[in-house]
Amino acid sequence: MSHAEADHDTRRSRQWLAGEARGAGVDRDRLLELGAAMAALTAAAAEREPVALASAPVGVDPGTPIAKPLPPELLRPLDTNAEMHWTALAGQGYVVPNDRFFVRNHTETPRLDADTWRLRLFGTGLRDAPTRDAAVEFSLDELRRLPAEESDALLECAGNGRRFFTEQQGEPAPGVAWGLGGVGVARWRGVRLGTVLRLAGLRDDAVDVMPEGLDPDFVTGGINLGRVRRPLPIAKALDDVLLAYEMNGEPLPADHGFPVRVVVPGWIGISSIKWVGPVEVSTTPLFSPWNTRFYRMFGPGHPAEGTVLGAQPVKSAFELAWDARVPAGAEVLLHGRSWSGNGPIDRVEVDTGDGWRPADLVAADRGGAWQRWTARWRPPAPGRFTLRARATDTTGTTQPDRAAPNTLAYLFDAVVHHPVTAH
Ligand code: MTE
Repeated sequence: MSHAEADHDTRRSRQWLAGEARGAGVDRDRLLELGAAMAALTAAAAEREPVALASAPVGVDPGTPIAKPLPPELLRPLDTNAEMHWTALAGQGYVVPNDRFFVRNHTETPRLDADTWRLRLFGTGLRDAPTRDAAVEFSLDELRRLPAEESDALLECAGNGRRFFTEQQGEPAPGVAWGLGGVGVARWRGVRLGTVLRLAGLRDDAVDVMPEGLDPDFVTGGINLGRVRRPLPIAKALDDVLLAYEMNGEPLPADHGFPVRVVVPGWIGISSIKWVGPVEVSTTPLFSPWNTRFYRMFGPGHPAEGTVLGAQPVKSAFELAWDARVPAGAEVLLHGRSWSGNGPIDRVEVDTGDGWRPADLVAADRGGAWQRWTARWRPPAPGRFTLRARATDTTGTTQPDRAAPNTLAYLFDAVVHHPVTAH
């Protein structure tokens, strides 16, 4: 599925540059201006100047972009976002509890009223081509009455691990400095997007579906790009995409999209639009800045217009504090998790300073959205140690020693060097 994402983005991007695709809200010239701004930004990054990817979003009170509490032992605030601490997963089960699930907000969490909220489908891809103002509407109760499905899906921000480009590879990394905590698996419950599209009168010749968030417009480089939105090809929309209203058995929390969000398994996090309201269904290709300008690789080895991101790469993390202290001479059971946008994890190896050896995989997770594992370690003496974990997915892709640099610092996949002190 992830490969389909790359194919789709590449095709739509070419169509967009050729003027064949249509973007709701922002015209092509404005986006080309933004393209120039992005190019300047990437050039500045290459010269190691400190640059921020986005200017401060409009309408955000810097204190309140996130609704839930951010206890320092669970979450680390990063601008309008919050990253999960990996220690917060120690002793937890397969899914990440809602109180510690990472938050990625372009602006701020809107406080929506479930009673007046409506999903509003419109566009040429529906029978009689309803307009945005006369959309086919569904209330939350109506969605809840449709057949429900559950899916354990992983969400990951494409910039997850970005800070290691700088810390481990000495390369500039503009944008939100995520450690490895911009990822999580939850059990989502909702109705298939395909079910709702068909009820709304989906036409056979529809090609794209574009869900749009009800959070404030996103402004960057002085340009208002409108609401956060990203098109999906109809094949993916009819496959495994959910309109989720529950997360881990609770109503969707405000920060994660209340009352309803899109969950697009296997695709980068931005596809899973939160606080979804309008959904355009179209017989002509759609684009948005979120698949034409952002989430692309720029820099050496990439064309001027950038390369689409494609699948999230293989990653691993220890459920351990950075610079954790462990007793020397005593056995510790190290815990961690690995995951890949290509599909399930096949094997994981761990190095505690004396070479790679296999980790023990939790059998129940085989084939799942991520893989828990353990490894025994007895620190031989007091001192500093570096722990490393390296996973290989079922396509045979293994984490490299070094991640391929790109100016916006996406897709960090290298083995992370995790410092630990034995005392
Ligand atoms: N949807 C809207 N409407 N606004 C956003 O800012 N952020 C996206 C996606 N959906 C975003 C959104 C990104 S980049 C990611 S990684 C995921 O939501 C994060 O979901 P979470 O905050 O529930 O972890």
